[in-house]
Amino acid sequence: MSGDRSGGAPRGARGSSDKPVARVGRAPLNTGRERSGPPERRSLATRSAVITVMIRAAFEAAKGLKRDFGEVENLQVSTKGPGDFVSRADLQAQRVLRDRLLLARPGFGFLGEEGSQTIPGDGRHRWIVDPLDGTTNFLHGIPHFAISIALERDGEIVAGVIYSPIFDELYWAEKGSGAFLETAYARSRRLRVSGRRDLLQCLIGTGSPFAGKSDHERYVRSLRPVMAATAGVRRMGAASLDLAFVAAGRFDGFWEFSLQPWDVAAGLLLVREAGGIVLDVTGAPYALGAASIVATTPDLQEGLLALLAPAAK
Ligand code: IPD
Ligand code: CA
Ligand code: CA
Repeated sequence: MSGDRSGGAPRGARGSSDKPVARVGRAPLNTGRERSGPPERRSLATRSAVITVMIRAAFEAAKGLKRDFGEVENLQVSTKGPGDFVSRADLQAQRVLRDRLLLARPGFGFLGEEGSQTIPGDGRHRWIVDPLDGTTNFLHGIPHFAISIALERDGEIVAGVIYSPIFDELYWAEKGSGAFLETAYARSRRLRVSGRRDLLQCLIGTGSPFAGKSDHERYVRSLRPVMAATAGVRRMGAASLDLAFVAAGRFDGFWEFSLQPWDVAAGLLLVREAGGIVLDVTGAPYALGAASIVATTPDLQEGLLALLAPAAK
């Protein structure tokens, strides 16, 4: 697991664990309708068998996360706080995903954020999973978090699913077939990255390092020029969704340092299949595990990399 989920600093930046968090409790979240029946129902795009397996696994894991998110709202006012509880929610979601994915494709390997569940598999295929991306948001009762599942074949990401359970937004992509978004309010739509060309009009997503992480100075060097040259910078708190937002044209670009393969594996395929580009800050094509990531559109690539250049050294 990345970071401390125990409720102590630095991860959630909450008060000391023996004091109640000063926050008025809310009623448990009404998780509303669960998706039921075949996920193909609302889709216009043709999904392969493997994408269907991934979507079904994501929906299954989302049930537990939605229940647990409702609980976190209550735990905010308890003396123990939600830290340990969230660690368990995270682990439980990963178990559901691993069991479902490996049941459907028994020979495949598995890499999840909870390292203890790593499985080498056939050496060709590997599931790369973040069961809960946006843990700090989750911990603070902020509904912006997601499940991210990618399939790697022979070292290349070939399928990706990102599901935002509370907003019920399902993003998926398959190599060569495009990237799609399905929501409760619309039919499946094919994703295209934004067509904006003027950086002054552009909204750029990012992830900033927090207590216990390195690269603070480097990050500030990268942030200053982007702030000054664009319509705004957003730090939403879930890298998988940041990339999905680039694919959907909501963000015109995104950058962050020190992300892990499970944070970005599904999202980078979404961006590429939506016509975008994924690099590192030096302008080299992004490879899983690289020290930095920049996702943007072909038109903005040069301009955004120029802004980030002070952090490329
Ligand atoms: C985190 C989120 C966040 C990013 C962090 C990641 P987690 O993943 O994606 O946006 O800035 O670096 O670790 O820990 O919530 O799965
Ligand atoms: Ca996570
Ligand atoms: Ca993550």
